[in-house]
This record gives sequence, C-alpha cells and structure tokens, in this order.
Amino acid sequence: MKLCMIGTGYVGLVSGACFADIGNEVVCVDKDKNKIDKLNSSISPIYEPGLDELIKKNFLAKRLSFTTNIHKAISTSDIIFICVGTPTKKGTIKVDLSFVYKCAKEILKYSKRKKIIVTKSTVPVGTGDEIEKILKKKKKLFITISNPEFLREGEAIRDFRYPDRIVIGSNEKKAFDIMRKLYVPLTNKGSKFFTTSRRGAELIKYASNAFLATKITFINELANLCEKSGVNIEDISLGMGYDSRIGGRFLRAGPAYGGSCFPKDTKGLVSAADKYKINLSVVKSVIKSNQERVNLLTQRIHKILGSNLKNKKISFLGVTFKPNTDDMRDSTSLKMIPYLCKKGAKVNYYDPSGEKNEFRKIKSCFYKNNIKSNCFGADLVVLLTEWDEFKSIDFKKIVKNKKFKVYDLRNLYSAGEMKKNKINYYSVGRPNIN
Ligand SMILES: NC(=O)c1ccc[n+]([C@@H]2O[C@H](COP(=O)([O-])OP(=O)(O)OC[C@H]3O[C@@H](n4cnc5c(N)ncnc54)[C@H](O)[C@@H]3O)[C@@H](O)[C@H]2O)c1
Repeated sequence: MKLCMIGTGYVGLVSGACFADIGNEVVCVDKDKNKIDKLNSSISPIYEPGLDELIKKNFLAKRLSFTTNIHKAISTSDIIFICVGTPTKKGTIKVDLSFVYKCAKEILKYSKRKKIIVTKSTVPVGTGDEIEKILKKKKKLFITISNPEFLREGEAIRDFRYPDRIVIGSNEKKAFDIMRKLYVPLTNKGSKFFTTSRRGAELIKYASNAFLATKITFINELANLCEKSGVNIEDISLGMGYDSRIGGRFLRAGPAYGGSCFPKDTKGLVSAADKYKINLSVVKSVIKSNQERVNLLTQRIHKILGSNLKNKKISFLGVTFKPNTDDMRDSTSLKMIPYLCKKGAKVNYYDPSGEKNEFRKIKSCFYKNNIKSNCFGADLVVLLTEWDEFKSIDFKKIVKNKKFKVYDLRNLYSAGEMKKNKINYYSVGRPNIN
C-alpha cells in the first residue's frame, strides 16, 4: 500500500520505517528541512536502537522516502497517517491541536482522490469529528480513522512489530477491513486487532497512559512511606506484582514520571473531561503528586549534602527520562539540574545519548563524555536514568573523593553491597542502612 506519514518524529519515523519494512511504499514528510536532509543522507535524527539500520535498508530498497513536499506526499498516497505533535498549550492543561488541524487542512487542499486519513497522534476524544468537519468540503473522498500509537521510545521497533494490541477506531466498517489488511503481517504473529468507535479509540490511548502514570505515582508515594517505616519498596512491588490482577510492570519506584507522553496526556485527559464537566479526581491527584515528587527529590539532595550546596560537585548519570532514547521532554533532570546550579552546585552530567541543548546555557553545568570523567571528584553521584552502562560501576575506583555519596534513583545497586564497600549510599523507598 502507498502510505504517507505526516510528521517524521519518534512516532512517524519509527512507524513509517516499520511499515516500509513489511512491504509498503512509505513517504515520510516533515516541515523540518534539517530533519529531512539528515534522513536523505541515511542519518536518523533521533536515537532509537535499530532505527538507523532499518532506515538504511528500506531507503535503499526504495520503499522508504523522505520529503518536505507535503503536496506530493499527500497526492501520491492512499493512506495518510497524522503523526504530528500534540503538546500541552502553554500555561494551560489543554492539548494544542493546531498541528493536527493544519495537517487536516493540507490533506483537504491536496487530495483529489479517495484517501484514508488515520490519526496516530494522541488526540482528545472527539478530535476525529473535528478533523471530519475540516474535510467536509470533499467529504466523499475521506474516511477518518483513529489508530493511536502505543510504542515506547527505546523499544519502539519491537513494540511496533509485536504490539499487545492494534486499536482501530472508526464509524465505518469498511475502514476496519482496510486497516486489518495493512496490519496482517503483525496480526499473523499474534497481535490482537481491536476495533471500536473512533471516539473509543481516542479515549483508550489517554486511559492507558493515565493508568500507567497512576501505577508509577502510586508506587512512588508508597516508596515515601517505606522510607519512613523501614520497609523495602522492592518487596512491596514484588508482593503486589505477583497478583495477576495487578501485575508487576510500572510498579518500580523512582523519579517522577516524565517523557513526551505521560505528563502531557494526563493533563490532556483531565482537560477533555473538564469539557464534559466530569471530574477525574484520581488523574488530577496523580498529576499533582508527580509534580511534587521532583521537589521531594531535590529536598532529599539537601538532606544528603546539607542545606548549603555552594561549590558542591554533583555528577548526574543519565539525564533522559528513560534509557535508550535521547528524548528530554519532561525529564526530571530538567528541573533538578537548574535548581541545583541555582543553589551554587557545580553539576556534571553524562548521558550515552550525548550532550543536551537544554543545559548549554547553564554556566555551572558541564557535559562529560564518559562515566569516569563525569564522576571524578564528585561529592554526590546522582543516578537518574537506567542505562545499562550504569549498572556495574566501581564507584570507589572512579570517583576518587574520600567522602563521596551516591543517590541511586533507580535502585540499581544493593544497599548491603554499598555498605560493605563503605560507600554512603541512598536509594528510593529502601531503609537507609548508612
Ligand atoms: N514519542 C512517543 O513515545 C509517542 C508514543 C505514542 C504516541 N505518541 C504521540 O504521537 C504524536 C507524535 O509524537 P512524537 O513524539 O513523534 O512527536 P515529535 O515531536 O517527535 O514529531 C512530530 C513531528 O511532526 C512535525 N510536524 C509538525 N507539524 C507538521 C506539519 N504540518 N507538516 C509536516 N510535519 C509536521 C514536526 O516537525 C516533528 O518532526 C504525539 O501526539 C504523541 O503524543 C508519541
């Protein structure tokens, strides 16, 4: 089939490359010329394991192409996926749908024959209806579908190829047959193909993200209780997770949840519910608790290092919101590092996905390109992101500061082992044994 992905970001690029890999002819279009130039030189603009190879392979096979020419991309395709960003509107909790609606207007302008319009972007319930209104001048040409994306950054290719479920929302039966055909290579391998109304599909995506965010926040709050009551949060997570009704995933205590989806989607869901005068009090308190968690963690650093942070050397291991991605959106580090620098600390950081523009302007914040030089001489090492290369560090050998401390926000190390090695070690939701 001839597909067009409008928006060549984490979702559009990964799903475009994966659709090409299962035999479709895919054109990825983006308004960002720099991104498209890179892609046309077979360089991925994002860090995602396995993506470079997949792009190269399908580009050479002429199944995958990249362009800024939206007119050509739309007019030559049968199925058009809208994969543009849906960020939070500044100063509100509302979803900014301007990028989505702009796509709909361009689709209207450049379509002269029948097309299936598929929203992959995460959009509030009822957005498909609004897209249909924009397209109504050429109504007969379009079927508008919702097909929310559930891939996780860092595991995006695997998630695309082996999704737990493919959700298709449409008010027209014909659409299900077309989409079923497109996804046959995945459903043949066992992925569930779930059909519902268009509004249903839109809401499933928000409900799923809000539920996962709730799980994380729940266990993070319990970790606070564990720290005070001398219980190990990991025992709670395991003891709860063995109950198949609960499940162990997303029950690991750590920093506040971040990333490009949970923070904006929890807000987006509350805002959509507000429109219908429905009070989603659980999701509201999840948002509040998560925002407070960042403050709680910075206060914990004061407890570890003292109230005066002037000239304290703090080294961050990882700044992305999770491993195997370069995505910095809503990462806890974006709040922690500027706060610590403002308090006079000298902050180094190392992240395997490279230096971050977000910290370039902070005078007392320095990027180091390896673990050793990052941690050398630190008063405190903060382990923020669970990259594999941070899992077996010999801190004593590399830090070389007699009194250094480690704050492990991912509970990667054994508190007992650290004590044995005479390292002052702090973690999340585990009894302090220093
Ligand atoms: N990132 C994820 O892990 C993830 C997972 C599931 C769903 N989603 C959802 O998918 C959507 C896209 O997310 P993303 O992370 O890929 O965003 P992104 O910011 O990485 O990519 C969006 C791209 O769209 C381009 N764009 C915007 N308007 C355009 C236009 N009119 N024409 C052409 N290109 C345009 C931008 O230049 C950008 O490259 C969002 O709604 C998000 O919530 C994201």
